[in-house]
Amino acid sequence: MKNIQAQAKLLMEFLPYIRKFKGETIVIKYGGHAMTNEALQKAFALNIALLQYVGINVVVVHGGGPQIGKMLEQLNINSTFRQGLRVTDDATMNVVEMVLVGRVNKEIVNALNQSGVKAVGLSGKDGQMIKARKMEMVIHNPAHQAPEIIDLGKVGEVMFIDTKLIHALLRDSYVPVIAPVGGDEEGETYNINADAVAGAVAGALKAKRLLLLTDVAGIMDKDKKLLNSLDISSVLSLFEDGTLQGGMIPKVKCALEALQDGVEKVIITDGRVENGILLELFTDHGVGTELVRKKA
Ligand SMILES: Nc1ncnc2c1ncn2[C@@H]1O[C@H](COP(=O)(O)OP(=O)(O)OP(=O)(O)O)[C@@H](O)[C@H]1O
Ligand SMILES: [Mg+2]
Repeated sequence: MKNIQAQAKLLMEFLPYIRKFKGETIVIKYGGHAMTNEALQKAFALNIALLQYVGINVVVVHGGGPQIGKMLEQLNINSTFRQGLRVTDDATMNVVEMVLVGRVNKEIVNALNQSGVKAVGLSGKDGQMIKARKMEMVIHNPAHQAPEIIDLGKVGEVMFIDTKLIHALLRDSYVPVIAPVGGDEEGETYNINADAVAGAVAGALKAKRLLLLTDVAGIMDKDKKLLNSLDISSVLSLFEDGTLQGGMIPKVKCALEALQDGVEKVIITDGRVENGILLELFTDHGVGTELVRKKA
């Protein structure tokens, strides 16, 4: 009896959180690095099921860097990265689309379906959901006078998110699972960083939370110590002093944009921690890094 009472008490502790998030939208970016373990993928799917059962609208955006890398290696296609983004020629773009839309997306949809929710896999081309354009990257290197223009090939950036299809799916209790591939007016296909898509989707939906699941505990400072909570001004200095490198650069950029678009809080956390999503949403102290517009 004592045991059951303790269990009931524990369940009641979740009531304030369920109340806070019921009817709200949460966008979860599932990083390619965080989804390589099957047991973790199952736990991820069950966490999403729980969120849906308590009335939260969940949208998943996924990456797939390691999976793309593996396939490119098998096909002997070399890749280089600039500022955390993969330089994407036409042959690479074909592989990116095949792996992301054809395989990774369907694997996540399948895992979610198995956990009891109905998931629908989409690429940004479906319903013209993601309007993209070629990314123009300009780097200002103090060592050179002229800015350096980098051609990233078929790397795109989000121009606009049409949320109609997402809303239609959420209304009928489907979990949209979005692969970060988009098209432009001319029918070109672009490889878009998944964090950028997640940030833009969260902003367009005015999501309550954007959760970025990755393969590190969160944002680390120069001494590799986890930073628990940051606001926009403190994040900007991390860019300037070079604390943020590689894949963390587009991640934090998109987080800032999402906050500016009205997302209340962005959380960067370790996708390798079992039940990490629940820890971040249903407890007061998450385990990763939270980003807010301005600290209270
Ligand atoms: N200051 C920092 N704090 C934490 N991680 C950092 C920092 N600077 C750079 N990183 C790197 O950023 C990486 C996370 O970005 P990465 O793009 O590799 O993964 P992802 O976005 O989760 O997956 P995917 O790109 O496949 O969707 C970390 O593994 C870490 O090596
Ligand atoms: Mg990344």
